[in-house]
Formats: sequence, structure tokens, C-alpha cells
Amino acid sequence: MTLQELGTFHKTDKAIHSYLPHYEERFSPLRNKPVRLLEIGIMNGASLQMWKNYFSHGLMYGIDILPEAMITEKRIQCFCGRQESSGFLQEVVKQTGELTIVIDDGGHEGTQHVASFEGLWPHVVPGGWYCVEDASSIFNKCWTQPEQRTILDVIREQWADVLRSQSDIAEITVIGCDTQRPKWGRNNGLIFMRKATLSMEEELEREDLEFLFSEGDRPHV
Ligand SMILES: C[S@@+](CC[C@H](N)C(=O)[O-])C[C@H]1O[C@@H](n2cnc3c(N)ncnc32)[C@H](O)[C@@H]1O
Repeated sequence: MTLQELGTFHKTDKAIHSYLPHYEERFSPLRNKPVRLLEIGIMNGASLQMWKNYFSHGLMYGIDILPEAMITEKRIQCFCGRQESSGFLQEVVKQTGELTIVIDDGGHEGTQHVASFEGLWPHVVPGGWYCVEDASSIFNKCWTQPEQRTILDVIREQWADVLRSQSDIAEITVIGCDTQRPKWGRNNGLIFMRKATLSMEEELEREDLEFLFSEGDRPHV
């Protein structure tokens, strides 16, 4: 089954938001590997079940503030706490070990996105992925004024300093709101960051990053 089919089966809203083809494009080479995936935001566990099914040799971890969201079953372990708490994240990582994939689908506030990235990025393995869903929600205007505020504004205003301070980001992909789709089914901004491997680090081109921050460019997003 494709990831989209699994997402529909497990009833995750990632299937509705058109996120899953973007994930599958990046994660399919890892499908049969023993990945360690951490998702911030569990809710009813639909996505954790989808990931467990997709990565049949992997370990799935979840974080949520709600005790009732905790799931304990084979290959799934959950932690109750706040994604913006660096102490909590350190405790989580002590138990999970280094992570292959982190997905932030939690509180969706800009400060939470950045705090979690700062706490968890150092624990992503070389070649691993850090993904932020609904990245445009920091303005909470994406749905009403998409033509005025784009995902690139998010990158410039929220992420610029954070990203510049990391020398081991091999690749950043920013997928903006798909305004042609109805509000509920829309992609509300997805950011993928890939951790450099040692060989990649030597070849890193920072120009792509600078392009994101330069004024005046506003590609269709
Ligand atoms: C959109 S839902 C997660 C959906 C889930 N990732 C899925 O795809 O099935 C967001 C979840 O984030 C949790 N949450 C909100 N604020 C949080 C915080 N500060 N730290 C951790 N989790 C938080 C909420 O309790 C909620 O369950």
C-alpha cells in the first residue's frame, strides 16, 4: 500500500491535507529500515499507526500534552509533556536514542516549532529528516490571506536565524499553501529539513538558504 492509502485507512488528516505524497517521496528509501520516528502531537494516534504500518521494521515515538493521548503497544512508545520544554525533550531523547525522522504536528505555534527544532535537531541522525507541518499557521492567516502572507514569510520571520545557525542542514524544502484547494483539504505549509551526512557537509551549498531570505523574490507557493 502507498502511504496515502495507509493514511486514508488509518484516517489521519495528513491524507486530507495532501501531505502524504511529499512524505512518501522522501521516506520511501527508508521504508524497510529500522527507523526511529518521533511525531510531536499524537491526538488519537492515527498517524502513529500509519507510520508503524508503513515502517514495518521501525520504532514509533509520540509526544503530546494530553495523558489520554498516550499509546503503549509493540513498536509505539509515547511521552507526555510539552514540546517547547527543552528538559522534557532531553528526557525523551534519552529514551528514544537518536532519531531518523521527527515530525512536528503539535501545538503549531511558531515558538513551539522553533523550541522543538532546537531541542531535537541535534539528535537527528546524519541523513535524517525534520519535518514541520502547518508551518504557515504561525500567522493563522494562511487560510484567509494566503496571497499576502506566504510560507516564505514564515521562513524569513521565524526560521531565518535558527536555520542560519545550523551548519549541518543539507537540504531545506518548503512547500507552501495550496490555495486552490478548499480550506480544510489544503496543505498549510510543510517544511522538510535534511541533516547532512559528513560527506554532504563538505559539499553544502548555502546559496539555496540565502535565496529563501533575499528580499523581493516571492515564488509561487
Ligand atoms: C493536530 S493534533 C496531532 C495529530 C496527529 N499528529 C496525527 O496526525 O494523527 C495536535 C496534537 O498536539 C497536541 N499538543 C498541543 N500543544 C502541544 C504541546 N505544547 N506539546 C505537545 N503536544 C501538544 C494536542 O494535544 C493534539 O493532540
